Amino acid sequence: MNDFQENFTNKIFRSATFEGMADSNGFPTDEYRKYYKKLAENEVKNIITGFTYISQEGRAIHPRQAGIDSDEKIPYFQKITDCVHKFDSKIYLQIAHTGRQTSEQITKKKVVGVSNKKSNYFGSKPKQLSTNEIYSVIESFTNAAKRAKLAGFDGIQLHAAHGYLIHQFLHPYINNRNDEFGINNQTGIGDYFLRKTILSIRKKCGQEFPILIKISASDNLPKQFTINNFISLIKVLDELKISKIEISYGTMENALNIFRGKSIPYDVILKHNFHYKTNSILKKKLWKIFATPFLKHKAIPFSEMYNLKYAKIAKKITDIPIICVGGFRSGDEIKKAIISGNTDFVSLCRPFICEHDFVKKLAKNSSYISNCCDCNICAIMCDSKNSTRCYFTYQRKRIATD
Ligand SMILES: Cc1cc2nc3c(=O)[nH]c(=O)nc-3n(C[C@H](O)[C@H](O)[C@H](O)COP(=O)(O)O)c2cc1C
Repeated sequence: MNDFQENFTNKIFRSATFEGMADSNGFPTDEYRKYYKKLAENEVKNIITGFTYISQEGRAIHPRQAGIDSDEKIPYFQKITDCVHKFDSKIYLQIAHTGRQTSEQITKKKVVGVSNKKSNYFGSKPKQLSTNEIYSVIESFTNAAKRAKLAGFDGIQLHAAHGYLIHQFLHPYINNRNDEFGINNQTGIGDYFLRKTILSIRKKCGQEFPILIKISASDNLPKQFTINNFISLIKVLDELKISKIEISYGTMENALNIFRGKSIPYDVILKHNFHYKTNSILKKKLWKIFATPFLKHKAIPFSEMYNLKYAKIAKKITDIPIICVGGFRSGDEIKKAIISGNTDFVSLCRPFICEHDFVKKLAKNSSYISNCCDCNICAIMCDSKNSTRCYFTYQRKRIATD
């Protein structure tokens, strides 16, 4: 075993990555199982699944999302955890409710939210959840976590990032409620939903069942989640003794700032994006003239390890292990981030879409650099019916997205 394998392989997570490999009822398919088998057999020791819906109303717009909304699904997920455990890897189920970031067309239910504030990107004006309805969402999260435990997952990750429901509660710009789920005067964020959900999961799954969380440190909504809000959130998570905190950025309002890229794949957006797709040549032309400068203006360019500055802040506040995600592309960066003490773990998404054997390659050559070119076509294509994949061949030739 070399230095990288001994000291760093275990510090790498495969960050939650939407698979697009479930059937239309959200049951994970054999393709889904094989995908995780491939990662585990290639020495990815810590795997977080793509976001999995806890109820129909919390489904995402992307076709073929997996769900953990019924007991019937437990044996299907059990096949996946069994398969991953054979290779001595751990697997965590990311559970989510989309809140206002979805569409009635997909969920066949009224879009609900923390408030009735509309998401500009998703368009639909949500119905504000009543206090009683919120308690039933907490129950859905709890039941989902219990099912994950019964299916053999090593823990769950609450998706509290990227503008989904838990993030909507936390965010002072989105949450304008007057009940107990509103903004807490002491912390400045809407943390009651999170507290109640974590306590409820622990009661049902046991104190020792690991609960990880993914959060967005900041965003570019008209009124941002500020650094003070972020610090408050870390303190709340510290108090709640959560197992691990993964630090990401942004909301789906400006999804490209969650991933970040070197350019924006406009043609793929116009062909496949849920919101912008069109066959009309005129609309395409107009969109390129009017929407392109707007998207460009809003887009934060890719830089290496782009959330590390937030992880560094969190490390000063808590002893809870921090996982930093976003822009890790080489063994040298991973080593540097961990050795610096600014994060305990790193997690990666696109490099694993591009090369499932990325960790194995790092074990051979710890300075290996990912082949991922941050084109973000994989991300845009989550709106298509294709399963998630890299759209470049290893010769860096673009593959058609039809
Ligand atoms: C195709 C794709 C699917 C993703 N799916 C999820 C998801 O299901 N849950 C989640 O929290 N983040 C998801 N993300 C965000 C990643 O986990 C990660 O935070 C982001 O891509 C930055 O990491 P990277 O630079 O290593 O790609 C997804 C990103 C991409 C590109």
